Parts: sequence; C-alpha cells; structure tokens
Amino acid sequence: MPFDTLSEVTAIQQIAEGTFRMILEAPEIAREAMPGQFAMVGFNSPLFDPFLRRPLSFSSAEFGRVEFIVRVVGWGTALLSDLISGEQIPILGPLGTPFPRPEGGAILVGGGVGVAPLLFAGARWKNPILLYGEANSEKLCHMHSVPCEIIIATEDGSTGLSGYVTDGLREQIDKCGGTVFACGPVKMMRRAYEIAAEMGVECYVSLEARMACGVGACMGCVIQTKDGYKRVCKDGPVFDAAQIDWEALDD
Ligand SMILES: Cc1cc2nc3c(=O)[nH]c(=O)nc-3n(C[C@H](O)[C@H](O)[C@H](O)COP(=O)(O)OP(=O)(O)OC[C@H]3O[C@@H](n4cnc5c(N)ncnc54)[C@H](O)[C@@H]3O)c2cc1C
Ligand code: FES
Repeated sequence: MPFDTLSEVTAIQQIAEGTFRMILEAPEIAREAMPGQFAMVGFNSPLFDPFLRRPLSFSSAEFGRVEFIVRVVGWGTALLSDLISGEQIPILGPLGTPFPRPEGGAILVGGGVGVAPLLFAGARWKNPILLYGEANSEKLCHMHSVPCEIIIATEDGSTGLSGYVTDGLREQIDKCGGTVFACGPVKMMRRAYEIAAEMGVECYVSLEARMACGVGACMGCVIQTKDGYKRVCKDGPVFDAAQIDWEALDD
C-alpha cells in the first residue's frame, strides 16, 4: 500500500554534471521501499504547475529517509534540482514491483542515472558486483560510499574501462555466474539481456515510460510484451527481460 505524504527535503547536492542527489524525510515510505520500486515525486507549487508528478527510483531508503538521484532532462527535473533543504514536496510511494531477490550472485548493470535503483540493490543484497557506465567522467556520479564492488566504464575512456558498460558483462558472468539486473537506456538493457541469454543466466530489467498516474489507472505507460500489454508502473517497472518485446520498445 503506497503512502501519499508531504516530505521535507533534508539534503540536495550536485554529484555529477546535471545530476543531483536528493534526500527526503519520509519514514513510512522508507520503511516499505524495496530496490527497484519508485515514487511519484511532486512539486512545491501552489498552482499545481507542473500538475503531474515525476517517477523516480529509490537509490536508498533507510533511517526514515529516502534518496533519489535526479538527472535534469526537462522542466520537472530542473525544478526538483532547484529545491533547497527544508522545502516540502508531495511524494507517493513505494510503487511498482521490486527486483526479485537473487538466490545466488547478482550482477548489476547500470547505464547513466539507471544506476539509481541498482545502488539500492547493491546496499541490500549480499556481495553483488555493479557495472556502472556513463558517456564520460563529467557524468559519473560521485557517491560518498558505494555499497558494493564497482566496475566503472566510460564511453570515451576518461575513467575506468573504455567502452560500453555491457562490454565487461560476459567476463563477470563467467567469473561469478548469478542473475543480471539492468537499468538504463533501452539499447543497453537489451544488450545486457542478449549476453545473459547467450550465457544461460536470468536477466531482469527496470523499464522507464512516461507516467501520468503511476498507480495503474490511466494506461499511459503501457508497453507490449510477449504476454500482452503491461503497465510499466503497476506490472513493472521490473520485468523478466525474456518477456519484453524488444523490437516494440523505443529508446
Ligand atoms: C520507474 C521510473 C524510474 C525513474 N527513475 C529515475 C531516476 O532515478 N532518476 C532520474 O533522473 N530519472 C528517473 N526516471 C526518469 C524521470 O522520470 C524523467 O526523466 C522525468 O519524468 C522527466 O521529467 P521532466 O519534466 O524533467 O522532463 P520533460 O520535460 O517531461 O521531458 C524532457 C525530456 O525527457 C524525456 N522523458 C521524460 N520522461 C521520461 C521517462 N520517464 N523516460 C524517458 N524519457 C523521459 C522526454 O521525452 C523529453 O525528451 C524514471 C522514470 C521511471 C518511469
Ligand atoms: S502511469 Fe497510469 S497506468 Fe501507468
């Protein structure tokens, strides 16, 4: 059952180019939130403008606080990045299906701000490995503590391995086996799935879609899967990658 609360911003700080870490006081939500779930985060605006809240994945939830990593792409995320400590904003959550907890090892593959829910999984699960990729070092999120072993890749080679985040996946599956959990651009998640499938391991992905309600009522976030149409907000955002109709997904 999600909670709809007015939450105080306790901290907001820039952690990469155009990217912010935002911490909110939200005890009920923090108690229930699981890795892979998200919240619909609203605005401190008396005129309800913007009207629609924006979906954001939890990157952490503990000690009565929830944390998000916000990358500015448009109006809503720009307004969130301008918040200051002490302001209050409405938040509805936790929403959606969490990642299934792996029985064996876990390899987390995060592209860009898709790393957010994987940081949460990395902190809650036993000894996962996180592959984290960005276009360049300016975009790399500086995290005060990384909850697990991390392998960084940048497309321009400015930090860590040079190339795509999925380039190192085959080697990690070979070394540790386990289930793959991916979040990021569609092309990246599809590649992670293809590698996992070739190597015979399971893969779960966390999808994004434009959302209006976030609770399964408006059908605005529907995608086509091999099991028919599914709502990303309610049936997902976490899906078994084998069930996705990858050809039908836009990047
Ligand atoms: C389940 C879920 C979890 C998410 N988690 C995070 C997160 O942890 N951190 C984060 O920074 N973002 C996350 N997002 C994406 C975030 O919701 C969008 O970036 C945000 O809603 C954009 O709002 P805006 O007003 O800034 O942009 P708009 O002005 O609405 O749009 C600006 C541009 O961004 C594109 N865009 C808008 N919404 C989305 C979306 N949902 N998916 C892909 N492209 C979009 C638009 O097509 C447009 O090109 C998540 C989305 C979903 C569905
Ligand atoms: S956003 Fe309304 S059904 Fe998913």
